[in-house]
Amino acid sequence: MAPSKFPDEVNVFLVPHSRMKDLVGTYMDQLSTADFHSNGALEHLLPLLENTFTEFKSHEHIENQYILEQLKQRLKLVNVTSKAVCNCHGDSQLVEILNLLRDGYTCTSKPISEQISFGSQLQKAVSDFTQHFIPHMQEEEEIFQPLLMKYFAHEELLLLKEQVIQQHEIW
Ligand code: FEO
Repeated sequence: MAPSKFPDEVNVFLVPHSRMKDLVGTYMDQLSTADFHSNGALEHLLPLLENTFTEFKSHEHIENQYILEQLKQRLKLVNVTSKAVCNCHGDSQLVEILNLLRDGYTCTSKPISEQISFGSQLQKAVSDFTQHFIPHMQEEEEIFQPLLMKYFAHEELLLLKEQVIQQHEIW
């Protein structure tokens, strides 16, 4: 990860995004090496992906509740509008991926040809998601963190970072 230009102690995205990027690296490895011709491959992969995407959904919820809502209110107070902040998670594909993963469980007892076909569909959907997710995190780091630095006091950001990390339960 490139070094942030903001002090670590007030960078609210640093710790959770490090975790999210680790998860991306792990599932990309798993997906790229998965052999859906083999019985059990899908069964093994689905719960791992479901846990990961449930964690992404939780990350999104925490950002909405703890970062974006506060940032929106602060921007409103100083009469600044930011479309990026308002629409940040508006086009999230997480629900679609989670639904697809749940559909996958019905596939595990089907003929191997159907499992192979579902595996390809899953690889494509997850790869499309990842192509948006990485720049999405970068946008949060490069657009939202500077806004937080500009409109929040140092002490407020210390507290915000602590709350965000506590909510993610990652230290
Ligand atoms: Fe930090 Fe909205 O993902």
